[in-house]
Amino acid sequence: MPTTAESRLKNRRGFLGAGATASAALMVHSSVAAAEEPRELRLGIVGCGGRGAGAVNDSLTINSRVKLVAAADLYVSKCAALRQALTAAHEDKVSLADASMHGGLDGYKRVLDDPNVDVVLLATSPGFRPAYVREAVAAGKHVFAEKPACVDPAGYRICLEAHDKAVAAGTAIVTGTQYRRQASYIGAVEQIRKGAIGHIVGATTRYCSSSIWYRGRKEGMSDAEYQMSNWMHFIWLSGDQICEQAVHNIDTINWVMDATPVSAFGSGGRFTRPADSEMWDSMNIDFEYPDNRIVSFMCRQIPGTAADNSTVIYGSAGTCRIGSMSSGSSIFDRSGTMTWEMPGSIADAYKQEHKDLIDSIRAGKPIVELRQTADSSLTAVLGRVAAYTGQRVSWDFLTNHSKLDLFPKDLTWDAALPASQHAIPGKTKLI
Ligand SMILES: NC(=O)c1ccc[n+]([C@@H]2O[C@H](COP(=O)([O-])OP(=O)(O)OC[C@H]3O[C@@H](n4cnc5c(N)ncnc54)[C@H](O)[C@@H]3O)[C@@H](O)[C@H]2O)c1
Repeated sequence: MPTTAESRLKNRRGFLGAGATASAALMVHSSVAAAEEPRELRLGIVGCGGRGAGAVNDSLTINSRVKLVAAADLYVSKCAALRQALTAAHEDKVSLADASMHGGLDGYKRVLDDPNVDVVLLATSPGFRPAYVREAVAAGKHVFAEKPACVDPAGYRICLEAHDKAVAAGTAIVTGTQYRRQASYIGAVEQIRKGAIGHIVGATTRYCSSSIWYRGRKEGMSDAEYQMSNWMHFIWLSGDQICEQAVHNIDTINWVMDATPVSAFGSGGRFTRPADSEMWDSMNIDFEYPDNRIVSFMCRQIPGTAADNSTVIYGSAGTCRIGSMSSGSSIFDRSGTMTWEMPGSIADAYKQEHKDLIDSIRAGKPIVELRQTADSSLTAVLGRVAAYTGQRVSWDFLTNHSKLDLFPKDLTWDAALPASQHAIPGKTKLI
C-alpha cells in the first residue's frame, strides 16, 4: 500500500504529461495539502504508570501526526505494558522498539539523548520533576510535565530557571494542571474577571477524599527502591497530599486571585496513615493573599469520610462555585439566585492540554507555563511547611531564604535512606 505521500507523488507524476495548466493547478493543490499535513512529532514518555499512560493516550487521541517512539520507567516491564496497551488503541501511532525502552534510574537520560524524540512527557513521581524538566530543556526537547512541578523551594528554583531557559530556547513546557483548560473553570474565571461576583473578598477550597494507595515493601528492595515504588508516602517524592493532589485547587485559587499568597498559617495531623508513611492525613490552612483576602483550605484522606473537592469564591456581589472533575461551575447573586452556570468535562481538559502543546509547537509559538505551575506547587509547599512547623510562614521566606531541599544526595538504586519520619508541629524546624 503506498503511503499518502507516495500516492500524492504518483498522482502528481500522472498529471505531469497533461500540460502546464494542470501542472500549475496541481502545484497549488499539493501546497495546500502540504500545509494540511504538519510534520510528525515524536513523543518520549518518562514514567509509564497510570498518568503517564493516560497522558500519552490523550496526546495520541487528540493529535494527528504524533507518534510514541521512546519510553523510560524504573521498570522496563512497565514500558512494555504501556506499549501493548497503546498499540491496541493507536496502532499507527506507536513505534516503540525494544531498544527504545529503558529501565532503571538512568533510563530517562536515554529518552532525553534520543535525537528521534521531539517532545518528552514527564510523569514520574513529583520529586524527580524539577531535575528532569531542567535536563529535558537543556536537551532541546519540548516538554509536557505532570503536576506538581516541585515539592520544595530547591525544586522551585530549578523550575524557574528551566522556565526561563525554555523561553530563551523557544521550546514548550505545558503542565498537567488540566483545569486551566476546562470550560467550566475558564468560564468561571472569565465571569469573575468581568465582575459577576463584584470584587473577591475570600475563598474556600477543599480536597477531601477517603483513601489513597499504599505499596508495601517487597523482599529484597533497598530503601531507595521501596520509597520510589511507594512514593506517595515519602515527602521528598510526593510533597504530601496538599502538594501531590490539592495543587489542582491551589492552582485554581492562584489563577482566580491572579497572585501567590503572602503567607500561610495552619495545622493538621495524622490518625490513619500506615506506620512508615510520612504523610499527614488532614490539613487546614489559611492562605493570606494580597489585600487581606483569606483563602480557607482543607485537605483530607481518611477512610470513611465524605469527599468534597470543590472551591467557592466569595465576592462583594455574589458567590462562584467551581466544582471539581466534571461537575461544572455556577454563580449566585446575593439573594441566592443562580445567575450563570456552565458544565465542564475533565476528560476534554486532559486532552486539550496535549492539543495546546502540539499546536503551539507547530505554530512556532511554544507555550511555556512552568512558572505558573511552580508557583502553585510552592503555594502548596508553603501550606505544608506552615502546618508541619506550626509557624506562620511567608512567601518571601520560602522563595528567598528557605534552605529546604528534600531530594537525597547521591541517589542510587541500592541507596540506604534515613528511616521515614513524619513532621510534628513545634518540633519540626522551619528551614
Ligand atoms: N493531572 C492529574 O490529574 C494527575 C492524575 C494522576 C497523577 N498525576 C501525576 O502524575 C504523576 C505520576 O502519577 P501516577 O499516578 O502515574 O503514578 P504511578 O506510580 O502510577 O506511576 C509513576 C511511574 O513512574 C515511574 N518512575 C518513578 N520514578 C521514576 C524515575 N526516576 N525514572 C523513570 N520512571 C520513574 C514508576 O516506576 C511508575 O511506573 C504524579 O506527579 C502525579 O501527581 C496527575
